[in-house]
Amino acid sequence: MRKNSLQKIGLEGSVPAKIVFRRIMTILGTALVLAFFVKLSELERFNYFVKILNVESLIEFLLFALLFFVLLITLFFTTRYARHDAMSRDRMLGIVCLSLLLTYACSWAFGELINLYISPVLLASLLVATLVDKKIGVVTQIIVSNSYFLLNMVLFKDTVVLSENVGSLLTSIIVSIFMIMLIGKSSTRLKFTVMGFVLGVGTAFIPMIIHLASGITDSYTVLMGGVWSAVAVLLSVSLYMVTLPLMEYVFKVNTVFRMAELCSLESPLLKKLVKEAPGTFNHSLIVGNLAELCADAINEDTQLAKAAAYYHDMGKVKNPEYFIENQKGYNPHDDIIPEVSVSMIISHVTAGYEMLKAGGIPDVIANIALEHHGTTPVNYFLYKAQGYTEESVDKIEFSYPGPKPRTKIGAIIMIADTVEAASRAVGNYEDPEDFRKFVHSLIKGKMDTNQFSDCPITFKELSIIEDTLVEAVPSMYHTRIKYDNHKKRK
Ligand SMILES: [Fe+2]
Ligand SMILES: [Fe+2]
Repeated sequence: MRKNSLQKIGLEGSVPAKIVFRRIMTILGTALVLAFFVKLSELERFNYFVKILNVESLIEFLLFALLFFVLLITLFFTTRYARHDAMSRDRMLGIVCLSLLLTYACSWAFGELINLYISPVLLASLLVATLVDKKIGVVTQIIVSNSYFLLNMVLFKDTVVLSENVGSLLTSIIVSIFMIMLIGKSSTRLKFTVMGFVLGVGTAFIPMIIHLASGITDSYTVLMGGVWSAVAVLLSVSLYMVTLPLMEYVFKVNTVFRMAELCSLESPLLKKLVKEAPGTFNHSLIVGNLAELCADAINEDTQLAKAAAYYHDMGKVKNPEYFIENQKGYNPHDDIIPEVSVSMIISHVTAGYEMLKAGGIPDVIANIALEHHGTTPVNYFLYKAQGYTEESVDKIEFSYPGPKPRTKIGAIIMIADTVEAASRAVGNYEDPEDFRKFVHSLIKGKMDTNQFSDCPITFKELSIIEDTLVEAVPSMYHTRIKYDNHKKRK
């Protein structure tokens, strides 16, 4: 097969020519529309088409388009450094292009309607940082800020504008870096918005200092430099909050905010779990902590791991008393045959999956709930059934139906779930060496039954997960014991 030119220069690996062509067309189309918005900002209201159709104006338009084309190509190549497993590069490109289009369209609209200085310069970088990757978000901001700087210098050539431009360039990059650092640290959208407002007002002194340093002494100009800078940040954060849910929906991305909302006890399904199966809820919280640590150790999405853990056993709310963690003395399995017991136990994976789908929980979490036991047998009831008969018992009938975990987070949930339940049951975590052997045997048991055959997890990652759990589980239980004792003493 002949290689296209991008493949020849080694920039695109083995991507087919059709996809490369589609990407170039997306970038070119976006560059043309961005250049169009810049020209609209430059031209007088209601007179666009008369002015845009002269030769000089058309050449300027094409130069702007070329500039945006180069910037977008650069941004596209930086997406190579984002997490590849999280989303395809085409989706990343779509998010980057749409974010930039929104930013420039809003800049033009607010410039027309209110004031030229009101540009939501942080909008694109905040959207890209939340929906794609934080590093790409910072690069986006550097590109957007510099393009605004260059374009304003081309369009308006005077000292006050130069000073304002430098102020806005620096402020936008500084604020965006701080805002991007806050993504994932602020648990709710409201807290993030408030922090954005604080940062916007708190950094208003930067353009004022630059005005003073560049020799502008008119106090009104200096003051307004700070005011416009703060307004631009406030506008960016407000537009970000409005457009983010739409982008989450269009590109089907689960952002840190969505994950935090899912992990909040305000979530209706978690409220149901707390009320109807408190033992399972407690187990899910511990699995959540362990899964978060394991995900961090192998560089996976910690928020997703935690949320998936919180919902993995949701199906147990259908018959909570059949699960040991919710029993208070009476065990209904004592009164039924093992075949019925096992069907009650196994049904929690499909019941959970259906509840999560019906409750609007993201597919990635519902799928993990369906996969978290893979095709493992429920050994307790398998052995119990074998004890009742001379004939061999069908192992498949006593096994979960699958599918097996298909993602690394799915594998983490399977392991953390098993280790938590087994450690709680056995209580064998006092001696570190014994506990390591115990955890190793549990993970090996999953490997021996091929539970990770459908998922891209490596031996090295499994070994890191083992180390993480060996360290985390005992300290987690110690903390809990101390906490319980403390509570009892009170
Ligand atoms: Fe389960
Ligand atoms: Fe579980």
